Amino acid sequence: MTRTEQKNIWWRRASNFLQVLRLPHGRRPGEARGVPRGSANQGGPGRTSPNAPRHTGQLDAPPPTDLFAKCEAFTKPLELQAADLYPYFLPIGESEGTEVEIHGKRLLMAGSNNYLGVTHDPRVREAAIRAIERFGSGCTGSRFLNGTLELHEELEHRLAKFLGYESALVFTTGFQTNLGVISSLAGRGDVIFTDRENHASIMDGCRLGFGEMRKFRHNDMEDLEEQLRRETPRRRGGWLIVVDGVFSMLGDLANLPRICELAEEYGARVLVDDAHSIGVMGAHGRGTAEHFDVEDRVDLVLGTFSKSFGSIGGYVAGDEQIIRWVKHHGRSMIFSASLPPASCAATLAALDIIESEPERRTVLHENAEFMRAGLHALGFDTGPSVTPVIPILIGERHATFRFWRELYDHGVFTNPITSPAVPAGMDLIRTSVMATHTREQLQRVLDIVAQVARKLRVA
Ligand SMILES: Cc1ncc(COP(=O)(O)O)c(C=O)c1O
Repeated sequence: MTRTEQKNIWWRRASNFLQVLRLPHGRRPGEARGVPRGSANQGGPGRTSPNAPRHTGQLDAPPPTDLFAKCEAFTKPLELQAADLYPYFLPIGESEGTEVEIHGKRLLMAGSNNYLGVTHDPRVREAAIRAIERFGSGCTGSRFLNGTLELHEELEHRLAKFLGYESALVFTTGFQTNLGVISSLAGRGDVIFTDRENHASIMDGCRLGFGEMRKFRHNDMEDLEEQLRRETPRRRGGWLIVVDGVFSMLGDLANLPRICELAEEYGARVLVDDAHSIGVMGAHGRGTAEHFDVEDRVDLVLGTFSKSFGSIGGYVAGDEQIIRWVKHHGRSMIFSASLPPASCAATLAALDIIESEPERRTVLHENAEFMRAGLHALGFDTGPSVTPVIPILIGERHATFRFWRELYDHGVFTNPITSPAVPAGMDLIRTSVMATHTREQLQRVLDIVAQVARKLRVA
């Protein structure tokens, strides 16, 4: 056989193998759904004027729309900036965890997902520094090819053991984990039942694959059952029920016991996104399934390292064969560079803390209870929150931005949340409590909330 013939065989084998990875089924990498290759919507030059579409001159043809026309019309951020009410992308200059500095102003941090306060723990910092010294600043490649370190495997083994599953897989972010896991598992003919208030990454994961999505009303088990019942006669494939364990805006819990019952009754699999629950819920910090004592009835647990682990990254844990499938079909992992060494090592150190210092969890929940009780005493509605995520329901969008701004001016950092992140009319200030907040700091937050509420005549 000539060298050229050998090469051809090798290339054919390689491209056959890549075909296997060509998910979601049938679409080619880089090809958007519904947009034919080579269509006018793909790519295009960056400036508007010389390339703006011109009328073809045909009388019956509608005038073409410039792709960028919507950008010019999108002035909301500028209006908020002009009114000094723009709350996004604020650059933090210094951070000590519970206090930060923005534009030289010191603020009490009451809007972080650093629930256990590990981001500044000396053990976590030291682990990250050591990993950089050993492996450098990044992996410069995907887990699939050159980007898997021993650290990734160690982290996967530790997570699987901690969560009580056969296997775990680490992604570069939690967002990518949802994209890769859901889109690779739910294919043509499959149906995903998803809570309306699930995180955006779950919704995008559902849209990305070829499975069909059915949304049920937030935590409404009757509606979920109704949808399962309605879908039964036309069932063709597998079913997945997916929920946030702790809902990230309202701080309430998914009704996992009922979800597991329904899944068993209707033959569906259960995936729980425990982004806000690992380290926080359950006696050992294993999340909402542990909290509700349904760990052996949840098929897959998924989460992020960007909250109680204090770093960045994502993971999914489950039976070995499912993880093997996702590992070889999850495009958001296969085609993206892997988690950097520093984040891996910091997460391992944070996991040590989660496992060995349960008292952090106790203090965290005591702090959350103190904050909730204080807000109730001031007349605020904190919705269904039973976790360290505590919303202050305001209702109207502009009032929410005003409230946020006053808190900011008085030295408290919070997050204004408006629709579509929450249903319209349920705009809120999202506060979150940390284990490392002192009572004095939390009381200061409550005093400032009371002051602002008096000034704006809210609550
Ligand atoms: C419920 C939930 N899932 C997934 C994510 C995404 O995680 P990451 O920040 O690691 O991308 C988040 C983050 O906000 C989340 O709240």
